[in-house]
Amino acid sequence: MKVAPSILAADFAHLDGELQSITEAGADWVHIDIMDGIFVPNISLGIPVVEAMRPCTELPFDVHLMIVHPKKYVPQFCKAGADIISFHVEADDDPAETIDEIIRCGAKPALVIKPDTPAEAVYPYLDKLYMVLVMTVEPGFGGQSFRPDMLEKVRAIKQRAPQVLVEVDGGINPETVKESARAGVDVCVAGTAVFRAEDPEEVIRVLREV
Ligand code: DX5
Ligand code: ZN
Repeated sequence: MKVAPSILAADFAHLDGELQSITEAGADWVHIDIMDGIFVPNISLGIPVVEAMRPCTELPFDVHLMIVHPKKYVPQFCKAGADIISFHVEADDDPAETIDEIIRCGAKPALVIKPDTPAEAVYPYLDKLYMVLVMTVEPGFGGQSFRPDMLEKVRAIKQRAPQVLVEVDGGINPETVKESARAGVDVCVAGTAVFRAEDPEEVIRVLREV
């Protein structure tokens, strides 16, 4: 299991230190939640912050775009240091064109589905995808409860395309990661569970070794 701590739960006044801590604690990727206040009812951080974080760690940046026009912003996020770009199938751009734009800019493409969106929505794009992100909460906020009913989608996608990584995001902790691992999840995002833990290093170790 790869572990991608979500920076949304970090101390934004000390991002350098937070990034160094999770790097030393053995995180695999840094998950960065971009929210525009339109696609989701919350605003998080934008391109200049991603750029500012880039020199703080060598870990890959897993950028999760919760925005209405993902295709338009792909070049800027790539330039700012994104390694993997995830965008929502529910956003208004054509998914195939957005995937091509991500590849053209040199990043790895991933498609995200919200809890009410069926797994079938990603099937036409599996050939070109590096990863599918199955939301296990409604996107927009950290600290929500994990929805185990989403794991059926993980199983369906893994069965259809074993070569595509599947990531889960929302409510992941040392307990909920277990059923996720059994369903075939390759990468877990964890915000609250890592950054609000007394011992983040131990939490990252437990998640990785599940
Ligand atoms: C939710 C975000 C998540 C969030 C996860 O919209 O996509 O990445 O930060 O936070 P936790 O782990 O606290 O549920
Ligand atoms: Zn996320």
